[in-house]
Amino acid sequence: MRSFKTLAIALSLTFVSASALAAEEHAAEKAQPKADAAAGKAIASQVCAACHGADGNSTISVNPKLAGQHPEYIYKQLSNFKGKDGKPAERVNPIMGGMVAGLSDADMRNVAAYYASQTQTPATAKGNRESIELGQKIWRGGDQSKGLPACSGCHGPAGAGLPAMYPRVGGQHADYTEAQLKTFRVGERANDPAKMMRMIAVKMTDAEIKAVSDYAAGLR
Ligand code: HEC
Ligand code: HEC
Repeated sequence: MRSFKTLAIALSLTFVSASALAAEEHAAEKAQPKADAAAGKAIASQVCAACHGADGNSTISVNPKLAGQHPEYIYKQLSNFKGKDGKPAERVNPIMGGMVAGLSDADMRNVAAYYASQTQTPATAKGNRESIELGQKIWRGGDQSKGLPACSGCHGPAGAGLPAMYPRVGGQHADYTEAQLKTFRVGERANDPAKMMRMIAVKMTDAEIKAVSDYAAGLR
């Protein structure tokens, strides 16, 4: 009898502390402090600059440009690389997985704010006339014959994206864009909400992916 009572008390205590924790978490979400771009700049220069450039304009085409990218998108990617509450990372990349391991939630918001505040340096579209025309056609109108939607519908006519969900793709390194479309196509990158990008990439040929990646690099 006595032990039952102890158990009941223990259970009710567990319940109280669990709901208190939930309330606390909710309050923390509401009272999100404003991101500190200056603190983010310190992290960027110490940890990220070697690959992404001091101002987020990486000069190596496999490392994405982060300058001028939407802060919500940068933060989402960093959280996805990290994985939360013991769950595996939603976006798997050995390099970035290691990079985010030591970053707190506030660090990720701060570094996102810093890179978002920088200005992207434009690139130029590569490729021959034919492939640029194909890229432009897909970007602006998709391909109705196979149900491929226009990229501009979500990423904007100039590729600037639309916060908070749709990232900037214009001006990005073509090699990086091409690689992402291919990993979406095989489902290796699977952190896109509602499978939006996986459903699109699976409809594209290598030539179409290359053409649209080259075209997008030249958008500004
Ligand atoms: C050793 C090189 C390296 C370092 C250092 C590095 N990154 Fe990266 N980062 C990469 C590569 C490579 C990718 C592309 C991963 C992929 O292919 O999915 C990437 C991808 C990203 C992305 C996804 C961008 C997008 O458009 O989806 C973000 C955000 C990012 N890095 C932020 C950071 C931040 C912030 C730091 C510093 C804390 C950092 N990176 C340090 C190499 C690096
Ligand atoms: C229905 C809306 C939609 C359409 C249409 C669309 N996208 Fe996306 N795209 C998204 C969303 C949402 C994401 C962000 C995924 C995430 O959160 O990780 C994204 C991400 C991307 C990325 C990854 C960016 C990065 O920095 O890693 C690339 C590249 C991309 N899209 C290219 C394209 C191209 C090229 C087309 C046209 C063939 C296209 N998208 C059409 C919604 C769309």
